[in-house]
Amino acid sequence: MNTVYDLSQVDKCGYTIINGESLEVLRNLPSNLVQVCITSPPYFWQRDYGDVNQIGMEKTPGKYIRNLMSIFDEVWRVLKDDGTLYVNIDDIYKHGKVPGKVPIKSYIGILPMFELAMLRKRWIFRNRIIWHKKNGLPESVKDRFVKRHEPFYMFVKQRYYMHNPQYQRAASIPSIRERTHHKYSDIKRPAKTSCQSIQGVGEQKSIWTTDNNGNPLSRMGDVISAAIGTDKHASTHMAPFPQSIINTLIDASSRPGDIILDCFCGSGTTGIVALERERRFIGIELVEQSYTLANQNCSDKVGLFNTNPRKGT
Ligand SMILES: C[S@@+](CC[C@H](N)C(=O)[O-])C[C@H]1O[C@@H](n2cnc3c(N)ncnc32)[C@H](O)[C@@H]1O
Repeated sequence: MNTVYDLSQVDKCGYTIINGESLEVLRNLPSNLVQVCITSPPYFWQRDYGDVNQIGMEKTPGKYIRNLMSIFDEVWRVLKDDGTLYVNIDDIYKHGKVPGKVPIKSYIGILPMFELAMLRKRWIFRNRIIWHKKNGLPESVKDRFVKRHEPFYMFVKQRYYMHNPQYQRAASIPSIRERTHHKYSDIKRPAKTSCQSIQGVGEQKSIWTTDNNGNPLSRMGDVISAAIGTDKHASTHMAPFPQSIINTLIDASSRPGDIILDCFCGSGTTGIVALERERRFIGIELVEQSYTLANQNCSDKVGLFNTNPRKGT
């Protein structure tokens, strides 16, 4: 169905949430529109969102991955050439009725399938960022290690793309001896300037700098610790992002005014953070209750409520 969505709300209010099925909505959005897509599709057989058009309850893992690839093909089209896609997705253990040709108790293998499928689709696979869950849920299982992480995948479309390196407080600065050792040969003395934002292309020569108080900073690594379930906005959604991780991803990959997309927007965490950081936001959400929650959360940020209800209903 060809539907034209009213994107004027993105200019007027800073955001729009569209109530609909991700693939169908994306097909009706213009190309080269968004700078960053940050999203988390429903995990395979993790949760039943109770809608026939939901992603995640497919009969086989292969069908799930194919459905995701159709969606990320459209994300490729709506993403600017120098844009970035972040995907939070995870595996599931084979048990009960969960489909998958692996032994009971084994991971089904969703992550390797997803990674290979994205590579076959010409995405450039830049990072597998680990979200370390500071306060992971207790698990009753006693014959393996307790799970404490989820990945956020970072993909880009081309070799050169927009990126602001992110910094964090460094534990300590290596001594001169350590710095002259081959491993640290390109480390300079900390700069007197504050942490600079470098937009665009190329490797940064120095990996040490300081904040305004002279504290040493180092480039952020690909493990980010964040607690789950502590952000107030998502108390009624089952699987919200932690806002602190989304802050980092948005700062790294966009500038104020850019459009950020979340094509499975749930409670609207990506939108809340985007609006707080003076970006604009487009969210897509299938389930009406979550759509209303995301709208409410985004409107609380800008003081304006707007709607883009499901077409044909
Ligand atoms: C893992 S949750 C996203 C949570 C979100 N990151 C947050 O911070 O609240 C996935 C969401 O995708 C929605 N969803 C499932 N199938 C969909 C589809 N085909 N199109 C759009 N949204 C869908 C679900 O209703 C659910 O809210």
